[in-house]
Amino acid sequence: MPDIDEIKEAKQFYTDIPQKTEGFFLKGTNSLDWGMKNRLSRIFNPETGKTVMLAIDHGYFQGPTTGLERIDINILPLVPYADTLMLTRGILRSIIPASTTKSIVLRVSGGTSILKELSNEDIAVDIEDSIRLNVCAMAVQVFIGGEYEKQSIINMTKMVDFGTRYGIPTLAVTAVGKEMARDARYFRLATRICAELGAHYIKSYYVEKGFETVTSSCPVPIVMAGGKKIPELDALTMAYRAIQEGAAGVDMGRNIFQSEAPLAMVQAVRAVVHHNETPKKALDLYKTIKNKK
Ligand code: R5P
Repeated sequence: MPDIDEIKEAKQFYTDIPQKTEGFFLKGTNSLDWGMKNRLSRIFNPETGKTVMLAIDHGYFQGPTTGLERIDINILPLVPYADTLMLTRGILRSIIPASTTKSIVLRVSGGTSILKELSNEDIAVDIEDSIRLNVCAMAVQVFIGGEYEKQSIINMTKMVDFGTRYGIPTLAVTAVGKEMARDARYFRLATRICAELGAHYIKSYYVEKGFETVTSSCPVPIVMAGGKKIPELDALTMAYRAIQEGAAGVDMGRNIFQSEAPLAMVQAVRAVVHHNETPKKALDLYKTIKNKK
């Protein structure tokens, strides 16, 4: 019990200074609750408004992907240079040290493999496990135009509902079937549907023509997906353009961990995303770090 006699009369009221009511730095998220915003602030750097998400969840449908055979050896050294890790609960629990302070985006949809129809996914993680694992967002694949389009959309809306109860944002991951056109028109459709149905931020592939129309017609942040491995300069150019054309960051996997020098590449990507470094300068940085090794 505090000693009541020793309590001094409060007088620091600063009656002449109005209390600040700050807006939130991320597009379209100002009406979210405190917990949601706090988690998003651990994914997106509040100073730059951007994120470098390192995607290493590929094993959930394709097993030990090149570069991810030994996450303990090949990926853990990259973690300090990412803002967020996107991965499955299996890898999180078995390999990632619980002492990490990095934010976690947990893959929560699944149930198919590369041997079958990929869009036939379900929710594969209970919301209670996401809470238990202290994740900052839950990632769900959405297959607009895919065979199981409706099922994948409903997976996402269910996670939005569950996450809203507990203050955990949902990341909608737009997945494009092999036979479908990857153009701005498609990504405007896919990202807008996800946003309208409640996703808090959305992962979209970059398209050379009209990407700015994708980011501007989507009312919540978009992060650029990396896609298959391409030369380092091309990957850095793609990331640079995406950022300049309105993306709030990248969610890259293979173009980092399949690079000849992943540790150098993650730092070069970081320079593009957080410091608006040009692709050429970022490539110089990549080469400098690579050669030091
Ligand atoms: C794929 O479905 C996974 O969600 C990956 O996280 C995603 O493809 C990003 O990785 P990458 O940059 O290798 O395409």
